[in-house]
Amino acid sequence: MMFNQLRNNVILITGGAGFIGSHVVRRFVNQYPNKHIYNLDSLTYAGNLENLKDIETAPNYTFVKGDITDVAFIEDLFKSYRFTGVVHLAAESHVDRSITDPVSFVMTNVVGTVNLLNAFKSIWKDDFKGKRFYHVSTDEVYGSLGESGLFTETTSYDPNSPYSASKASSDHFVRAYGETYGMPYVISNCSNNYGPNHFPEKLIPLFINNIINEKPLPVYGDGNYTRDWLYVIDHAVAIDLAFHTGKNGETYNIGGFNEWKNIDLVQLLCSLMDKKLNRPTGKSAHLITYVKDRPGHDLRYAIDASKINQELGWKPSVTFEEGLEKTIDWYLGNQEWLDQVTSGDYQEYYIKQYT
Ligand code: NAD
Ligand code: TYD
Repeated sequence: MMFNQLRNNVILITGGAGFIGSHVVRRFVNQYPNKHIYNLDSLTYAGNLENLKDIETAPNYTFVKGDITDVAFIEDLFKSYRFTGVVHLAAESHVDRSITDPVSFVMTNVVGTVNLLNAFKSIWKDDFKGKRFYHVSTDEVYGSLGESGLFTETTSYDPNSPYSASKASSDHFVRAYGETYGMPYVISNCSNNYGPNHFPEKLIPLFINNIINEKPLPVYGDGNYTRDWLYVIDHAVAIDLAFHTGKNGETYNIGGFNEWKNIDLVQLLCSLMDKKLNRPTGKSAHLITYVKDRPGHDLRYAIDASKINQELGWKPSVTFEEGLEKTIDWYLGNQEWLDQVTSGDYQEYYIKQYT
């Protein structure tokens, strides 16, 4: 019997106020009116309930503020609501922050994940029939590629940053709970996402915000680093599909079939923004500033997403040019959101990171 034919009506999504999580929550709430979606988020700097304004009063949606590292709270929450499925996205997610503060990455990404696994195990004891723990991970666990090749589901783990090491560790714990306790799980490892609601500390939203404000665009090193970009809503669709129809104990790589060198991407972004902002061609590109490289900077990520394509029928729905245009339009139409998230602590972070 397929997992989606079984009773699985009480779903916990963690990190649902963040970038990807908010798109996953929206997707599940709208797609499954007969399931109740709980969104657990501690609302760190990266979490923002404004991201979910449009669905916050939906009858099948409840927000719970709480921290996945708080053992007693997590145990009580699972006992109270008896979640039949967990979609786990809560994490510290920014590589640069992991370089300055690795311990908080261990706490949330490793200890927090194990707390959730324990609580899930403890409510269902050994009877996991019809239950599923879905862990959202990253392609960064595979380390760095050279000029050629792609990450597949069997590529060895070789993480290089404290962020990717913490995500790799959490993936191992999920797999270990599957092997040791028979917990049904699915893991997906996805490439770099972009789209609406992305916190402006990551490359694309940071540069969009800086172009709007005519601030320097800090390209690390020589800019010849390569990432594989996927529109965030396509990731949310893939998570929905793999959560409901993926096979227990399997990993699915998710990617955009869309590799870009940072400097080429930044040039494209600059030219699209010049047009949108009615600025002379080449104006934004003048803001490009090469700065000190990120330590341990991975050269290239690229995903082979043929397994999820062939087995579950998923593929990206928008081209990069379409997705980037939608993204730019969203930021230009949501200046208030940008102003809100870039006030306060953000200024302090920015100065520390870039000066
Ligand atoms: P994000 O930083 O935008 O959001 C993370 C969310 O988790 C925030 O809402 C934050 O408040 C919440 N959170 C953090 N610590 C918490 C804690 N201790 N307890 C409860 N909630 C907590 O991250 P994102 O970019 O949306 O990434 C979501 C997930 O997807 C992460 O697990 C990340 O590793 C993974 N991922 C991200 C990308 C990407 O390109 N952004 C790619 C692949 C995988
Ligand atoms: P980022 O968005 O932080 O994602 P990740 O490190 O998880 O891939 O960075 C994407 C690429 O852009 C990466 O090669 C680092 C580079 N980058 C810059 O050149 N300048 C910046 O200010 C940032 C944030 C990233």
